[in-house]
Amino acid sequence: MVGNILAGKVAVITGAAQGIGLATAKAFADEGAAVGLLDLNEGLVRDQAAAIVAAGGRAMGQICDVREETSVGKAIGLVGDAFGPVNVGMCNAAALTPTVSIKDLSLEDWNQALAVNLTGVFLTAKHLLPQMLSAGSGSIIITASQMARVATPQRGPYCSTKGALLQLAKVIALEHAGDGIRANTLSPGGVATDRLARQFGDLDRAEREWGPTHPVGRLGQPDEIARAAVYLASDDSSFMTGADMLIDGGYAAR
Ligand SMILES: NC(=O)c1ccc[n+]([C@@H]2O[C@H](COP(=O)([O-])OP(=O)(O)OC[C@H]3O[C@@H](n4cnc5c(N)ncnc54)[C@H](O)[C@@H]3O)[C@@H](O)[C@H]2O)c1
Repeated sequence: MVGNILAGKVAVITGAAQGIGLATAKAFADEGAAVGLLDLNEGLVRDQAAAIVAAGGRAMGQICDVREETSVGKAIGLVGDAFGPVNVGMCNAAALTPTVSIKDLSLEDWNQALAVNLTGVFLTAKHLLPQMLSAGSGSIIITASQMARVATPQRGPYCSTKGALLQLAKVIALEHAGDGIRANTLSPGGVATDRLARQFGDLDRAEREWGPTHPVGRLGQPDEIARAAVYLASDDSSFMTGADMLIDGGYAAR
């Protein structure tokens, strides 16, 4: 354990088998939280949770498809049963969306982006809120993107769904400000994860081609986003709700 900023917190993270979700799960556990790692990839998420436990943390891995309400409700319920009412939730899972113009985009690809990136976040938040109401407090962190603000050609489904998340977080923040429950978005710029490796072919190419588009001259690392998630999960951010925390190497500044 590195610190205890999150002692007493019970966290759920979707899309936690790899990348930003996994880095955040490790950072939360290092700071004393009990963490439920939820992901579509059951084998990997269970292995990653077991590794956190082996390192001295409190964690469990659970299969979850954020597109399916019964799956989301069951997974969040199991974390609550194991560790107590969930008071931190990171809605982080997102689909790999195609790079294609709107005129060539299939309805199927559009619907898949909406189902995971937007409906998945709605369902996760919907099932987190009763847990947080019973816990008496909570922090919902929705992983958006710098592309929620900056449009990019051929990234229509991604930009549209991520932009919508900024508004969804604000609505949740206003609906629950009186309940001690906060909701914010966390918006990374390009971060070196498997997502970018798949989008660009490999990570070296992603770093070469996309790193320089960030004013700091490089991609971010998952840990640089996880530290911000620790802040949003902790009581240090108690006056912050309905906001977007942009961590993008300056991408959206120009
Ligand atoms: N990596 C970046 O450059 C970047 C930039 C801005 C925002 N983001 C956002 O950060 C978040 C995490 O990104 P990442 O790069 O770590 O992603 P990633 O693709 O490496 O990991 C995503 C995880 O989500 C899981 N997942 C996919 N569909 C799911 C579903 N239906 N139900 C449950 N789990 C599902 C996958 O199995 C995977 O483990 C995403 O919301 C992404 O949009 C990433």
